[in-house]
Amino acid sequence: MRDDRSTRVLLRFWGRVRSSLFLLPAWFAPHTRLRVAFHRLRGVDIGKNVEIGYGCWLGGVRPSHVHIEDNVTIAGASVVLDHDYAYKYTFGGSAVYGDVYVREGSFIGMNSVIYPGVEIGPRAIIGALSFVKSSIPPHCVAAGQPATVRKRVSQSRRADESQVPDIPAHVKTATSARQSDKPKHSGKVTGFVAQR
Ligand SMILES: CC(C)(COP(=O)(O)OP(=O)(O)OC[C@H]1O[C@@H](n2cnc3c(N)ncnc32)[C@H](O)[C@@H]1OP(=O)(O)O)[C@@H](O)C(=O)NCCC(=O)NCCS
Repeated sequence: MRDDRSTRVLLRFWGRVRSSLFLLPAWFAPHTRLRVAFHRLRGVDIGKNVEIGYGCWLGGVRPSHVHIEDNVTIAGASVVLDHDYAYKYTFGGSAVYGDVYVREGSFIGMNSVIYPGVEIGPRAIIGALSFVKSSIPPHCVAAGQPATVRKRVSQSRRADESQVPDIPAHVKTATSARQSDKPKHSGKVTGFVAQR
């Protein structure tokens, strides 16, 4: 019994140590694969073919409560919260805890903040600078503070350039590059048609 309790205490202590120990390399390692590897060492649950930008804070105290599925992109300086102590610290109120699920193929824009307990649906896009306080359905664009659904995106068929709307000709995009030449991030499907 006593051994069980000391094992639990030791495990919790090690969890805290490793979540801080690997934080700097998880923020600043010079390649996305390295950053992903260090976020995993911190305890974040990360699938395959995931990209994580510089300076992302994924689960401050309990990284293991953050679950990122395959083919997700999290752009730089984004934050995924596993707890919120705002009322606890000010009025002695309750803390908020919750696992966060970032589902398959979704995209989190730069500087976004995801609240504890939120689920980002498969292939959802979160606009830059968003504060995501409630769960976001699949295949949509959500943005703002708090983030709300701005449009649905239906996956039609694999892209050719003519299907991608509203992108100025001078902007080089993943769809205008020949993907077959260089299959980077191969699990992702391009070619979505946005619907307001
Ligand atoms: C979310 C995003 C993909 C939407 O692009 P889009 O489909 O061209 O969207 P639109 O410009 O048509 O905007 C649709 C609506 O959402 C709003 N919106 C778009 N992006 C927003 C954002 N980041 N924050 C708040 N509102 C946003 C627009 O104002 C518009 O609102 P309206 O319908 O009331 O006029 C894009 O704005 C974005 O934020 N991309 C992420 C960029 C990024 O962080 N990249 C990381 C490096 S790869």
